[in-house]
Amino acid sequence: MAAVTGRVPFIAGNWKMNLDHLQAIAFVQKLAWTLKDARHDFDTVEVAVFPPFTDLRSVQTLIAGDKLPLAFGAQDLSQHDSGAYTGDISGAFLKALDCRYVIVGHSERRTLHGETDEVVAAKSAAAVKHGLVPVICVGETAEDLEQHGAAAVPVAQLRAALTGLPKGADVVVAYEPVWAIGSGQAATPDQAQQVAAALRPVVSELLGDEAGQATRILYGGSVKAGNIAGFMRSPDVDGALVGGASLDIAEFSAIAQFPKHVGT
Ligand code: 13P
Repeated sequence: MAAVTGRVPFIAGNWKMNLDHLQAIAFVQKLAWTLKDARHDFDTVEVAVFPPFTDLRSVQTLIAGDKLPLAFGAQDLSQHDSGAYTGDISGAFLKALDCRYVIVGHSERRTLHGETDEVVAAKSAAAVKHGLVPVICVGETAEDLEQHGAAAVPVAQLRAALTGLPKGADVVVAYEPVWAIGSGQAATPDQAQQVAAALRPVVSELLGDEAGQATRILYGGSVKAGNIAGFMRSPDVDGALVGGASLDIAEFSAIAQFPKHVGT
């Protein structure tokens, strides 16, 4: 983990389309208190929330006003800077809201909104251009897994997403097997490690060796407090992108507190 790799573990909560801005304020306040009560060391394990767009201004104001040590980001951005793109949100707007991160290429965007590898690449480039860190999601479907094994599709998706980014770009990679998302059936730590170990050389090849070593690779898909320790013991897995369990404060806090149970 961090001591060995230099990569600070990252626990990220993707709220998806849940919690309005009033609920978000109460949630973030309570999450911060819960982690403070547990004496969470944010320098040792970074924690971030990814609320819906309409919550971001409220979350920003709360985090800045109360000096909460939580990071936050958006769930998507436009590949364009501005213009006639009804309903889309520019990376420039997210940067103006002090977002540090933005999720790009989540499988739900790829499937429900037809986002291709080209669109994901353009969005990743837009994020970097605007000073945001893209959390680039890759992952195979159950069918891909059967036909090509676990790593082939995520490796190809990552290669496409990173092509065109400047060397040394600051990115986070999230390996989320589609079959594990929301299914209650997480990958095994060995499966996650195997794919993460195949993704890291792609980062090195396209962004440089230093970036390859420094880039955090997360696992996502049915992560819970009860299974996080196994993933965090895997040398190439540096954190988790959590969906459902990120909406439960006790559960999400327990995931962020994984160093307490990683040895168990
Ligand atoms: P679940 O944790 O609900 O499986 O969702 C994972 C995910 O899609 C996070 O982006």
